[in-house]
Amino acid sequence: MSEMPSLAKRILEEYFPASGDQLVVGGRSVRELASKIGTPAYIYDAELLRSRLETVRTTLGPRVQVLFAMKANPNAAIAQLMTEGGAGLEVASAGEIAAAAFAGVTSVPMQFAGPGKDEEDFALARQHDVTLNVESKAEVDALSKSGGGRVAIRVNPPANKTKSRMRMSGGSAKFGVDVDDLAGLATHIDTLDNVELVGLHTYAGTQNFDAEGWLANAHFLLDTMKDLERHLGRTLRTLNFGGGFGEACFESDGRFDLDAAGEGLAELISKDGRDDREYFVELGRYLCAHAGIFLTEVRYVKESGGNEHAILDGGMHQHAAAAGLGTVIRRPFPMVKASSLKEEARDEKCFLGGPLCTPADAFPTPSLPPLKAGDLVAFLASGAYGLSFSNALFLSHPTPTEVLVDKGVVHIIRERPPVDAPLRDQRLPGRSG
Ligand SMILES: Cc1ncc(COP(=O)(O)O)c(C=O)c1O
Repeated sequence: MSEMPSLAKRILEEYFPASGDQLVVGGRSVRELASKIGTPAYIYDAELLRSRLETVRTTLGPRVQVLFAMKANPNAAIAQLMTEGGAGLEVASAGEIAAAAFAGVTSVPMQFAGPGKDEEDFALARQHDVTLNVESKAEVDALSKSGGGRVAIRVNPPANKTKSRMRMSGGSAKFGVDVDDLAGLATHIDTLDNVELVGLHTYAGTQNFDAEGWLANAHFLLDTMKDLERHLGRTLRTLNFGGGFGEACFESDGRFDLDAAGEGLAELISKDGRDDREYFVELGRYLCAHAGIFLTEVRYVKESGGNEHAILDGGMHQHAAAAGLGTVIRRPFPMVKASSLKEEARDEKCFLGGPLCTPADAFPTPSLPPLKAGDLVAFLASGAYGLSFSNALFLSHPTPTEVLVDKGVVHIIRERPPVDAPLRDQRLPGRSG
């Protein structure tokens, strides 16, 4: 018998302290939730989302506007909650702008990054007053041709000063504009009468546990801004330092020092000495990862070759990150036997797989207590890049229900669709409907 792995234990203690024998999310036990909404399901605690956003906003101070990066969790209800809590939005597609509009989000700052925006993206951005973080001269010209808009230039620094696990800047990159090309592009934008240049943006990468490196990148952006302003002979209004504050999803992950980031940004703002500048960060995972779980039920347990295999009703098509997609080394996500938290883990390994007919649909698994059909297994740290990162169409299973639990009240924020949902947009040749 062995102890629960330490990350799972820490997440339970810090985020779900009301749990006893069972995991309790937002005041509801997982058994209650499973019988009410079924499994598999993503379950988010509204109070945890609110309090994390509030902590970040308070720590970064009133001069820094926090944008919620919708790509981390694109459900419209989460965008609504975040904006009610004082966040703006960072979107990555016309679809995410549409989700914000569906949620009734109208008067918060919105910014849009992505290296391949098209005319529909430009049109929706104009309609909803979204600043486009442009990534190339070709994109600027396409924007101007399609009617123009307000832009900031996404900068690709020559070297990545962060220790982000997935780096998205530095050297030759598909993201952003190289520093050497910045002045030329800004001058070009100034010749276009329907494109307004308001600032600079950068995004170095995700899962960054080193606040110092993150701040070094922010200082680089400020220095770049000063050079550009000298070149243009005028000032620009906005600086967006990106996101990527790390949040532990694996045992070896550290903690991002939010206080250090807050202090460092305050120093940067005082060095800038500009009362009229608007500063932004755009955070995804840090705002929502630990507020969400992916709840599954054990469907069958069987023996094969001397090992036990538990087949869950949720799989990699619904939680790809927990199955190891996007990582080089497949490591276990924090997970617990949610219907019986006090039970000790066994030393023998149990293999966890989802319902899909592919060996890729397997979850690297820490030791868990013995499992039988009907037991509930929860993947923690699953409020970010869960469903949105998954290949939901693979094998045509329904997407899982998504639920927001707000002080005991259960809101279904994504219905489980009918089995024929994958056919909704398909057409047979020769048939119109
Ligand atoms: C441009 C941009 N902004 C913000 C984010 C959010 O990053 P994170 O969830 O690590 O904070 C991403 C993630 O890939 C991104 O590409």
